[in-house]
Amino acid sequence: MSPTKVIFDTDPGIDDAMALLFLKSSPALDLLGITTVLGNASIETTTRNALFLRQHFDITAPVARGAAAALNGVIAAVPEMVHGENGLGDIPLPEVDTSGLHALDAAHFLIETVRANPGEVTIIAVGRMTNLALALRLDPDFAPLVKSVVIMGGAFGFNGHSGNVTPVAEANIHGDPLAADEIFAGNWKVTVIGLDVTQEALMTNAYLAQLRDGAGANGQLIWDMTRLYAKFYNDVTGVDGVFGHDSLAVAYVIAPELFTTRSGPIRVVTEGLAEGQTIQQPDIRKFPPSPWSGLPSHDVCVACDTPAILDLYMKTIVDAA
Ligand code: BDR
Ligand code: CA
Repeated sequence: MSPTKVIFDTDPGIDDAMALLFLKSSPALDLLGITTVLGNASIETTTRNALFLRQHFDITAPVARGAAAALNGVIAAVPEMVHGENGLGDIPLPEVDTSGLHALDAAHFLIETVRANPGEVTIIAVGRMTNLALALRLDPDFAPLVKSVVIMGGAFGFNGHSGNVTPVAEANIHGDPLAADEIFAGNWKVTVIGLDVTQEALMTNAYLAQLRDGAGANGQLIWDMTRLYAKFYNDVTGVDGVFGHDSLAVAYVIAPELFTTRSGPIRVVTEGLAEGQTIQQPDIRKFPPSPWSGLPSHDVCVACDTPAILDLYMKTIVDAA
């Protein structure tokens, strides 16, 4: 079977970098491009980081710079305590080769690449949904030409996980709730990998040490980057390690059989106390007319085979090293 064509929409970000290495290492995936968005750092920094990772991971696909602000124009403060001042755990970074920067911005790159490969491209979006929403606004007819959209974002209360920036909101959705609500209304199939499953996939420090020892220079880079990230998670939640977050969206595209999903339309709370909360109306029962009525159904991941996903991640990266 030929590999699945993929665009990676990202805000690197430590777990973004870990997911990009996974994606690049998988023979099941063919990376067509990396699009950047603000989030874990400013757009200048996430784009610089994407160019650095492209170079370090020996990726040939281009980087297209994306949104510098949320749809409403707001540029929120960046989470330096999570990803560091440089977005990659404050490891020293070299000057980057900017020749991999594409002339198009992210939204136009998404549209052009999908239109050149109709029905074949899966978009894996692991940052705010701003680039996707801008592309939809520019060209709503490109949506049905996308093979599928898989996002890391949101939280639905499964397995006890409901939010990480507020008690009910996950960071990627909270950073641009309007964009997320618009993409859930789009005429395409979205699969949502939220905290419900990503916080079940803990990569312990022992696991990361095994990756460091088995995956050469890339394993060492992941180890170095995750030192700050692991400290943050230890301080905030008490865990020994880091959550897999963005890598689970990649895992879903490689091995969907490792996930259990629930179908139904999804809305996002766009203002007020619960801003950024994701709420699905499940298809398995009938409801009176509601703000979910008439919207397309999407799949929310409610459970996953964590040991198998962690094995897949380790094996894919070690085998490619
Ligand atoms: C998500 O937010 C970002 O900080 C991470 O990179 C991940 O995409 C987790 O809530
Ligand atoms: Ca991310």
